[in-house]
This record gives sequence, structure tokens and C-alpha cells, in this order.
Amino acid sequence: MKPHPLFRGLLLATALVASAFAKPITVGFAQTGAESAWRTANTNSMKSEAEKRGITLKFADAQGKQENQIRAVSTFIAQGVDAIVIAPIVETGWEPILRQAKRAKIPVIITDRTVQVSDESLYACFIGSDFYTEGKMAAEWLAKAVNGQGNIVELQGTPGSAPANERRKAFAENIAPFPGLKIIDSQSGDFRRSGGKEVMESLLKKHGKAITIVYAHNDDMALGAIQAIEEAGLKPGKDILIVSIDAIKEAVQAVAAGKLACTVECNPLFGPKVYDTIAKILAGETVPKKAFNKDELFDATNAAAALPSRQY
Ligand code: AHR
Repeated sequence: MKPHPLFRGLLLATALVASAFAKPITVGFAQTGAESAWRTANTNSMKSEAEKRGITLKFADAQGKQENQIRAVSTFIAQGVDAIVIAPIVETGWEPILRQAKRAKIPVIITDRTVQVSDESLYACFIGSDFYTEGKMAAEWLAKAVNGQGNIVELQGTPGSAPANERRKAFAENIAPFPGLKIIDSQSGDFRRSGGKEVMESLLKKHGKAITIVYAHNDDMALGAIQAIEEAGLKPGKDILIVSIDAIKEAVQAVAAGKLACTVECNPLFGPKVYDTIAKILAGETVPKKAFNKDELFDATNAAAALPSRQY
């Protein structure tokens, strides 16, 4: 049965009040893909918050390919959406499509991963985590935990992506004061659990027991590496210490279980912040050019207590 027109009007009015938009709006979201549990949580946050606020969300999953993302943005421009959100797969190669959006006067909000552009006015603002700080937190925690000694293998994220670039640089720079900490190998597992497992299997074959530490650019790869370590007959947390980034619930559980030494949070639940920002931009307000989420670290001291309230 169709709701009475008066009731429908009431629903629409409620949605508009909740969303803080003067009229119903359409947002195009060019998402990276579905490579990790973090990404799924981010997609859910963007979708569920849009629904709550009565926003029409056009969602495009680029399946890990920048050309798909660029095509999706081009379609959003042709459709005349009110705002475009991009979680850029890699940092470079965005200028031409951002110029098109600017010419069409459609504000672009860069989320999650940063872009390298010569003209910062090509996008309205950035919302996400500070990947350099995450890598630094992991390095500092590790140096203290192992007293500045150990052979590290690094599982990198997607080559050319901001989190892989920044987490790699930050970690290397912040273990540099400890000559006893050495990165003996570094390979990409593409932020995927299967990638982390495969790379770890081959690293174990190559370096054997020389490996004492794994630094993974995300939890999915760390969890894949844990599987590989166990299948090789070694004990994660004892024979090999593993540190990673994201703080997905499964990783915090692994910390509580003693398999993962620590995980630095990278909060993906910024859907509400994105739509609040879009509302301000469309109302002509000025918004901060870069808004970073605040992230914390989970280790044996706080993981178990944090578990009941983990949202992703
Ligand atoms: O860009 C954020 C990173 O991308 C997350 O750390 C990772 O899990 C994801 O795939």
C-alpha cells in the first residue's frame, strides 16, 4: 500500500532537516574497490549515511583500476551531480578529470587517500587519515617493543597509493635512528589478505628464520601473513612479531589473542563528516582544505577492552 501523500511529504521534510540540505541532492562516489575489510566499512559508512540523510548516492566501484575511477567521475560530471567524492586509488594522474569537474562547477571532495596536483584549487577539500603519522606510530611503538633490534619484512600496499607511499616513508624514517632495526625485504601485497599471505609465503621461503618482524601496511595483509606464518609451523607473536595499520575488529581480536603485536587505527567511518562538509560547501561556507581523523593505537594493553566498542 502506498503511503498517504501527506505522510510522504512529512518523510521528505524530515529527511531534509536531517540532511541539512536545502533540496534533495545527488552525490557521485568513485570508490577504489573492495580490497579490504577497511574498504568495506568505508563503503558502508558512505552508503548508510547517505540513506539516513535522504541523499541519492551514485556509487561506482573501480575494482582497483584508476581508469575505471576516472570514467566514473566523467559520468558523474555528465549527469550533473551536486558533488563528487573520490577515494583515489593512486596519488597521481588526476588533474585532467579534476579540471573537467571544476569547469562544470561541481565540487570534488577527496577522501581517504590524497592526490598530488599542481593546483590545489582543483578540489574542494580532503577528508581522511594522516598516513605518515600512522607509519610513524607503528615505527615508534616497534622500536620500543623490540629494543631497536630485528630483521623486518615489509608488506606494502598498492604501489603508487598514498597510504603505501606515506606509511613506507614514515616507517623507514622513524626506524632510521635504530641501526639494529633493518628492513631486509619489502614487497607489495596490494592491501589484500590473499596478497599478504602469498607474499609472506615467498618471503619465508627466501629468508627463513632470519625474519623476526613483519610490518604490514594494513591489517588484511597482516592477517594473511599470520596465516602463512602458522602454516609454516611458526608462532605469530612469538617467533615473528607483526605490526600493522587499520584496527579492523578482526585485527584488534588478533592483538587480544597475542598473534598481532599492535595495530594503528585508520578510521574509515567518515561518511557523516563527508556529507556535513558537502552541505557546507553547497551552502557557500568555507571548509578546511584538509581535515584529518584522529587515530589511536591498539596493543596488548588496550585491545581486549576496546573490542566491545569497535564499529568496524
Ligand atoms: O587507503 C586506506 C587503506 O586502503 C587502508 O589502510 C587499507 O586497508 C585500504 O585498502
